[in-house]
Amino acid sequence: MPTTVREFRAENAPLTMLTAYDAPTAAVCETAGIDAILVGDSMGNASLGYDSTLPVTVDEVTSRTAAVARATDETLVVADLPFLSFGVDEATSIENAGRMVKEAGAHAVKLDSGSHTISLTERLAELGIPVMAHLGLTPQKVNQLGFSRQGTSHEAAREIAEIATEHEKSGAFALVLEHVPANLARRITDDLSIPTIGIGAGPDCDGQVLVANDVLGLGESSPPFATAFGDVRSEMQEAITEYVEAVEGGDFPADEHSHIEADLDDLY
Ligand code: KIV
Repeated sequence: MPTTVREFRAENAPLTMLTAYDAPTAAVCETAGIDAILVGDSMGNASLGYDSTLPVTVDEVTSRTAAVARATDETLVVADLPFLSFGVDEATSIENAGRMVKEAGAHAVKLDSGSHTISLTERLAELGIPVMAHLGLTPQKVNQLGFSRQGTSHEAAREIAEIATEHEKSGAFALVLEHVPANLARRITDDLSIPTIGIGAGPDCDGQVLVANDVLGLGESSPPFATAFGDVRSEMQEAITEYVEAVEGGDFPADEHSHIEADLDDLY
């Protein structure tokens, strides 16, 4: 299993990545043999109760990344830089990316990418902060793109492919391709030597990533390209409902959950 970006390579495909935002989920991911955990800004919707990823802060990602890093030894931990924490000015972008590595223990950062992140990717890589790029549907542009499939015209597909190549040249170690046609993802995967990690991008990427809530069946809704491999929401609902009923019905705590200290009988 990779511990550094050096093992996260196309030669080791298929690569697996899943989001996690807390220590228990990260520990389960590691036990399952996941190659990389993305502490995604999808935590905004998936874990923090926001309507989108846009309100997520650097402090929130730092704290969740630190929890994931503490719970794992062998898994590559990638922290997502939230909306406007990068790309506005270089010094602030470097400072925020640096916090993910120095303070939280991430091995790498991910940026919602575009032509505006090419030189930043190069600068971060020069400084020793590996960058995972992200093209296609980039949720931080929700107000411009919505959640629609990207790269569906020749012109748009060519633009994504060109920006992908620029990121590879700038030193990105991997590229997430989200919600793009499978034939475009295959073409980009063939053209690049860094691994492509698809989400809604078909089967021919070097790896796949999904949001943990979608895989677990924990969310209220999930995108059309995701599959639930479990029904954790129903299991949680059942367990918590049973707990409420047990307390209300006087069945919990039972004798075996309680301790009586004989000396205290005559305290009052
Ligand atoms: O934030 C996130 O979880 C992501 C993945 C969907 C790639 O960016």
